[in-house]
Amino acid sequence: MINVGIVGVGNVAAMLVQSVEYYRSLGSSEGLIHEKIGKYEVAHIRFVYAVDVSREKVGRDLSEAIFAFPNSVRKFAPVARGVTVRMGKVLDGVAPHMVEDFRPARAEEPTLSQLAREMQDAGVEVLLNLLPVGSEEASRFYAAAAAQAGAALVNAIPVFIASKGFPSPAPVLGDDIKGQLGATAVHRALASLVRWRGARLLETYQLNVGGNTDFKNMLAWERLASKKESKTMAVASTQERPEEVVREERVYAGPSGYVPFLGNTKVSHIYLKALAFAGSEVEVEVRLKVDDKAMASAVLVDAIRVAKVAMDHGLRGSLDWASAFYFKHPPRQARSEMEALRMLYAGLERLGERAEPRLDEPF
Ligand SMILES: NC(=O)c1ccc[n+]([C@@H]2O[C@H](COP(=O)([O-])OP(=O)(O)OC[C@H]3O[C@@H](n4cnc5c(N)ncnc54)[C@H](O)[C@@H]3O)[C@@H](O)[C@H]2O)c1
Repeated sequence: MINVGIVGVGNVAAMLVQSVEYYRSLGSSEGLIHEKIGKYEVAHIRFVYAVDVSREKVGRDLSEAIFAFPNSVRKFAPVARGVTVRMGKVLDGVAPHMVEDFRPARAEEPTLSQLAREMQDAGVEVLLNLLPVGSEEASRFYAAAAAQAGAALVNAIPVFIASKGFPSPAPVLGDDIKGQLGATAVHRALASLVRWRGARLLETYQLNVGGNTDFKNMLAWERLASKKESKTMAVASTQERPEEVVREERVYAGPSGYVPFLGNTKVSHIYLKALAFAGSEVEVEVRLKVDDKAMASAVLVDAIRVAKVAMDHGLRGSLDWASAFYFKHPPRQARSEMEALRMLYAGLERLGERAEPRLDEPF
């Protein structure tokens, strides 16, 4: 089994916790990126610890907290009881405009050592950071607690921890999940195609709207600097001279609006303009509509298993080979999704492990 702890019992947690049960009972791997990573299947994932600060969630069983206000993921798989959501440390997790959504509980906040001890007592092997965007201090606090507890960290959010080389006695993967078929993956694929067909990317944007607390939280522009950097670099890095593309502001990629009725549906508008043969211009426009939380969870069930495999082999600190395929802002960015996939497979092979099915083999 893989014992997992969650920081931030929001919509991603609600999708993830249920989806593990969904796959456990489905008996099929339809929709998974990898059925097996090392010896681990999705059914080996077990949630043993959860922490939040909201009065709607702290003190409740995880199986109920995942449906508490303001979460909006529907119920689709039965989750067993047994994990009580613990009080965390608020720090900068709750933005002023989000106080009504994440109303902090009136419980005592733990110290870093207390939190680390709680994690050890619960047997946490992999800790997931699912805090709101802009939680810089809070993310570092929980990352330090994970390191003290000897737990691996999977940093799902755009706070630069793995990519800045976080010291830990256990593996650190991140930063900022790149959804299975999310806007970043699709945008990168199109931008790579421009390069692979010998054209030059002139300008491109990616506008995203959604209707959950993640999007509402991102209405505060001051919390967004790292999200924009993460998304922009993910696209620019597919091109010949990424720094030039960024400096000339030829890429715009970021959250662009909160539309409450969309709920967990995310709609992305992607536009690219390229210079091709004999000065001809080519324009591409794509509209992408996804269940944002499903896209994130698909990646998390893989990243958790990669983290555990790395831990089994005694690896420590930021792992670039394990992060490029799954995160927008990894320690080392791959120029294409295929390159990222090969980095992952090569890293696993060095450990004598493999992921199945291999996605880079010809059909
Ligand atoms: N496709 C995706 O969904 C996707 C992709 C990339 C990154 N992410 C990131 O994953 C993160 C989680 O997304 P979500 O939709 O679950 O967010 P959410 O807003 O639904 O949940 C955030 C949770 O964190 C809790 N929280 C706030 N401050 C806290 C603190 N100091 N300590 C503990 N808990 C605290 C809130 O009470 C809430 O339960 C976000 O940062 C999001 O941007 C998501």
